Amino acid sequence: MFRRESCMTITLKLLTSNRDKVTEANIALRGSGVRVTASVCAGKLELQSDTLEEVASYAAVQGYAWLHEAVLAEDSGFFVSSLKGFPGVYSRYVFDTLGVNGLLKLVGDSVDRKAEFRSCVAYYDGRVLRTFSASVQGVILTRPSGSSGFGFDPIFAPSASRKISFADMTTAEKTRISHRGEAFRRLGEWARANL
Ligand code: IMP
Repeated sequence: MFRRESCMTITLKLLTSNRDKVTEANIALRGSGVRVTASVCAGKLELQSDTLEEVASYAAVQGYAWLHEAVLAEDSGFFVSSLKGFPGVYSRYVFDTLGVNGLLKLVGDSVDRKAEFRSCVAYYDGRVLRTFSASVQGVILTRPSGSSGFGFDPIFAPSASRKISFADMTTAEKTRISHRGEAFRRLGEWARANL
């Protein structure tokens, strides 16, 4: 297993081209002795699977084979109740093709506004494979609000926020309650005890 010198901060590569994810991960990991930097692995194949855990694990194993060092991968998705959990694991594709407004059209004027974000972070160091999952419940708004964040942030209001969208919050506020914030905090706790 990857081992750090005592008291040193360890830097792990997070396989992503999304800078917002790296910022959120580092906010969540404050005080854990772990920080992340972005890394992309050329020619990476994305597994199509029904679960975020499988996609994240597969990406971490591939990343390790590419980089020959301990790596992290994260997969996340937006699960809308009235669409039976769609777009879920297809969120990136749906965001890239239909966008926020396209998804709002699919939801229409459904009275069921429940939605959740889920995140799974996978760690792999050639020997140990661990996943850390978390979710945040809330509602899908009827129109976009706010300009920070990324993806579906402008149309999701977490239950704790009373109709304030993720995109209305600062990154630190979002990360305190978000799926990704919680998944990386769980990784941080495990890393403090085990790396
Ligand atoms: P992936 O984890 O990069 O595959 O992302 C899946 C997609 O889900 C992204 O392209 C976003 O559209 C959406 N998504 C995941 N996490 C978030 C988030 O924290 N805020 C907004 N959208 C998100």
